[in-house]
Amino acid sequence: MRTELIFANLPEIKTELLAVLVADTQTEKGSNAKPTIALLASDSAVKAAAEAVLSSGEFKAGANETLLLHTPAGLEAKRLLLVGVGKLSKVTIHHIRNAAGTAVRFAKPRGVRELVFALPEAEALPAAACARAAAEGAFVGDFDPDTYRSDRKDQSIQTLTILAPAGADRNAIQVAFAEGVIIGESHNLTRSLVNEPGNKLTPTLLGQRAAAMAKEVGLACDVYSTDKLHELKMGAFWSVSQGSEEPPALIVMRYEPEGVKDGPVLGLVGKGITFDTGGISIKPADKMEQMKYDMAGGAAMIGAMRAIALLRPRVRIIAIVCAAENMPDGKALKPGDVQTAMSGKTIEIINTDAEGRLVLADGLAYAKQLGATHLIDAATLTGACVVALGKVYAGLFANNDDICAKFTEALETSGEKFWRLPLDSEYADMIRSDIGDIKNSGGRYGGASTAAEFLHNFAEDTPWIHLDIAGAAWSEETKPYMAKGPSGIAMRSIVEWVRKYSL
Ligand code: BES
Ligand code: MN
Ligand code: ZN
Repeated sequence: MRTELIFANLPEIKTELLAVLVADTQTEKGSNAKPTIALLASDSAVKAAAEAVLSSGEFKAGANETLLLHTPAGLEAKRLLLVGVGKLSKVTIHHIRNAAGTAVRFAKPRGVRELVFALPEAEALPAAACARAAAEGAFVGDFDPDTYRSDRKDQSIQTLTILAPAGADRNAIQVAFAEGVIIGESHNLTRSLVNEPGNKLTPTLLGQRAAAMAKEVGLACDVYSTDKLHELKMGAFWSVSQGSEEPPALIVMRYEPEGVKDGPVLGLVGKGITFDTGGISIKPADKMEQMKYDMAGGAAMIGAMRAIALLRPRVRIIAIVCAAENMPDGKALKPGDVQTAMSGKTIEIINTDAEGRLVLADGLAYAKQLGATHLIDAATLTGACVVALGKVYAGLFANNDDICAKFTEALETSGEKFWRLPLDSEYADMIRSDIGDIKNSGGRYGGASTAAEFLHNFAEDTPWIHLDIAGAAWSEETKPYMAKGPSGIAMRSIVEWVRKYSL
């Protein structure tokens, strides 16, 4: 998808489809009151073209509601698409992001390959932030997961034009729009990786994809395998890979901006299980196919590093993806085994399906060894987190309120939903082992928190955030603005969090 930004007046726009936003401006409550709706465009020709349908009450301007008008009078555009954003008093840039995605997904199946999305003219919505959000949302909308269908019709949009009011502050809008394009493309890189099946994206292939991305944007990237895991004494990470024919991949990406010699070093660590069968503690067959997305945390880090390399914040970053395949085999890890992690801590294996925390234990320790002063990890870690929060919110844990506050602020820009869950020494007590230091499962109760406490053993006192994205990383339902399947969650929030540390 090509994207461009123009500053022009609506009636002059020649396009297959012009999308404009409509809000519900009703302030009083009461269900029988007719909604009063208003175009978020001041142009009189567009207003005239939409007048009849807007006053009919047929269109309620609900969030992502759409209505199409052909050959609108007084406009050069062939079609006028109204996209609702809900109540005007509650509209945020996140509604604008979704509305752009909705416009794109409206166009795709109808054979429309080119459209213009008019930014809203509303006081509470700064044009620059809207331009960025609209670009992000358009990319999100353009993605479909049907890459392996032999009759696949490529319905992607060829050109998306974002239209800003002619009199706007051009510089700021241009910069924000360019950021939105970078973030939108990187978001879809994450989603396309998450979408790949286990046979098409082994740990080795994930390493190759990360290296190719790094080369394209000028990042340093090393991909190691079994020998390096032995050399670093990563017994926890290695033990997950030992039952698979596919060798593990330790992916290390570095971003070192010129002239930045001090300040924090941010360590990004992602779970990259390219397929999780559960190992010897094998999972039931039902929905096991979904375990191809067990590398969503790693994919979030790869997408985030692409965006970071292009946005160039002034802070050093090390990203580590621990990729392996969790398989049952004669050589596989067994319940009862004791493994020594890179940090020297011994781990009693209770359940081989609690493999994510094993690879992350060594990933976190390695990030610290490489100099990380702050840590963030993302992982599809626990079913317990999905039980607690469903597929709506993802879990957030932190051992430090300052790092957590920065992440929460980042969420205001990214619009992603994370909810803080507790760490507590009593959860840590639940994973004490009789034979070694810790065990890799604390049982059914409090599973998201005991998993987080397991990781806490390796992050130790370094300020650290843990994101459990097991539920939100894969969506079961198609939304008007986004296809079902890989959501790409965490990538945009991580990028925004990183930018808060820019010197
Ligand atoms: N990859 C799973 C967690 C998961 C569950 C991700 C559902 C996405 C959707 C993880 O490796 C796992 O199997 N966790 C176990 C841990 C348990 C054995 C302590 C779980 O949550 O059941
Ligand atoms: Mn598992
Ligand atoms: Zn897993």
